Amino acid sequence: MEIQRIGIIGVGLMGAGIAEVCARAGYDTLVREINDEFLARGLDRIETSMQSAVQRGKLTPADQEAARSRVRGTTRLEDFADRDLEDFADRDLVIEAAIEDLHLKQELFAQLDQICPPQAILASNTSSIPIIQLAAATKRPGRVLGMHFFNPVPTMQLIELVRTITTSDEALETVRAVGERLGKRMIVSKDRAGFIVNYLLMPYMLDAVRMLEQGFASKEDIDLGMMLGTSYPMGPFTLADFVGLDTAVHIADVLFEAFKEPRFAAPTLLRQMVAAGWLGRKSGRGFYNYQAGERPPR
Ligand code: 3HC
Repeated sequence: MEIQRIGIIGVGLMGAGIAEVCARAGYDTLVREINDEFLARGLDRIETSMQSAVQRGKLTPADQEAARSRVRGTTRLEDFADRDLEDFADRDLVIEAAIEDLHLKQELFAQLDQICPPQAILASNTSSIPIIQLAAATKRPGRVLGMHFFNPVPTMQLIELVRTITTSDEALETVRAVGERLGKRMIVSKDRAGFIVNYLLMPYMLDAVRMLEQGFASKEDIDLGMMLGTSYPMGPFTLADFVGLDTAVHIADVLFEAFKEPRFAAPTLLRQMVAAGWLGRKSGRGFYNYQAGERPPR
């Protein structure tokens, strides 16, 4: 089965990036948000990112125009059930990139299962929720899997494919072909909290916060150490601010719940920063105070 059309649920940071790469790869792409404001913001994000790709010579204006014409937006989930959105019901692949809330995602998967034709594949971009819990909300568990993209999606080369104990070979290979058309490289993970990348990334990031908390070194020196000592493009605090501290705590909590290992426990400092609303770049302040002009070392 070759995928022709892709539906994307949620057009926040990740959903917008996923929609952009799908449209640029030639897929007819429909994105769905919960209200007009979020939808407009999401479509704007796609536009701005493509504009930046044009300015950097990564995309021709003609290809930008073609990609733009392949993206459509909607807000009405109830339309899926009413089948008003016949096109959406025909989506061959739906990638869910909604907020990290298990019940909400389960509900979405149950609804999508009713709306989409039986051959459609349902994927989730979740970074933490076990995919089997979403598969179990459908009557097509063989056609449900994880497609974990990385931020910023147009730039990052990787998709982590997550295979549950029920995912069929055919679904995995079909989605692998989509990933190849998107120009991404893929790795396959079993369906365990954190998959491959976050299982390794989170303890590293949390250890950096513990070092800072203990007064062992400054955030700038830790960041610079990892950048210049290991050629990471960003040090752990810059990356945490980039990912979002609330997201980092959420992923840590899921990992801690799954493995009960201290290395996955979110440090107090991180929790306090989230409580204070210091969520990283998106709120203007995280480990670095961007709104006050502070910048990570480069
Ligand atoms: N389309 C295509 N290419 C684009 C683009 C777009 N919309 N926007 C930028 N690019 C390209 C640029 O042209 C450039 O390409 P080049 O290397 O060939 O010149 C490349 O992307 C890098 O862009 P910039 O020059 O703007 O930026 P930097 O060199 O400063 O790099 C960065 C920025 C890519 C964010 C880099 O700092 C980085 O890789 N940081 C780490 C990001 C990371 O680790 N992300 C994963 C987070 S974890 C996650 O997402 C999982 C979740 O579950 C938490």
